[in-house]
Amino acid sequence: MATEALLKVCNLTKNYNDTPDSENILDNMNFSINEGDFLSILGPSGCGKTTLIRCICGFESYEGEILVDGKKVTKPGMDRMMVFQSFDQLYPWKTVRGNIEYPLKKMGIRDKAELTKIVKKHLELIGLSGYEDFYPHQLSGGMKQRVAIARALALRPRIMLMDEPFAALDAMTRNKLQRELHEIAEKEKLTVIFITHNIQEALVLGTRVMLMSKHGELKIDLENPIPKPVTPASPGYGELWKKFEDALEG
Ligand SMILES: Nc1ncnc2c1ncn2[C@@H]1O[C@H](COP(=O)(O)OP(=O)(O)OP(=O)(O)O)[C@@H](O)[C@H]1O
Ligand SMILES: [Mg+2]
Repeated sequence: MATEALLKVCNLTKNYNDTPDSENILDNMNFSINEGDFLSILGPSGCGKTTLIRCICGFESYEGEILVDGKKVTKPGMDRMMVFQSFDQLYPWKTVRGNIEYPLKKMGIRDKAELTKIVKKHLELIGLSGYEDFYPHQLSGGMKQRVAIARALALRPRIMLMDEPFAALDAMTRNKLQRELHEIAEKEKLTVIFITHNIQEALVLGTRVMLMSKHGELKIDLENPIPKPVTPASPGYGELWKKFEDALEG
């Protein structure tokens, strides 16, 4: 029996209609992903990547259909969690613990022991055990992104939507977080859509890699053939990197 796709994007069209002659940002876009896919999306600046995941997240109106588990997306929901590029996505007045607990409480989890257990598990997962009582201003950029990931993961979303979450980090921290995210995704069997400008990052993380161009056209959409862990020394890496580089420039 064929497995039903977890996410289906059918004839997705998005126009912000902000000027009389505004164009469609996404024009009849179609793709689907299965449970456990780690989809990296590359694309030039302004091609509509953020618009796409904002639509999937339920932050934007759109034409066409976006289905998660067969249900049409009409508003944000706990089944779709977004992690952004900005270091400012945490509540600055709440501690690390408070940041992770807040959406869980909103979901109705009130039991203190249960909350403590969830916070502990997710801080361990992202390597921040012991930082429960720190405030965001006491953390580095990389640590803040880890907390944002932990907060999203703790809600057990069906899909994690990540919009360039490592773009503002230094190269060393970025590589480290890529490796860790890959390990977490495997361990927790996550389904992820990960937007990036960085071909290396897309290849290291993605089980599938797409290249989007203007209006949501998919110039490349392939299963990543390179076995994990992917490094620049992996056989086939150079050819694949060049394929994406050429397509991004062309
Ligand atoms: N709220 C908005 N209102 C009107 N136009 C918008 C809005 N948000 C984005 N756009 C336009 O939609 C287009 C795509 O923007 P989007 O942010 O989705 O691109 P992107 O691929 O994420 O770019 P980048 O790689 O630079 O983040 C751009 O032309 C942008 O000006
Ligand atoms: Mg963007």
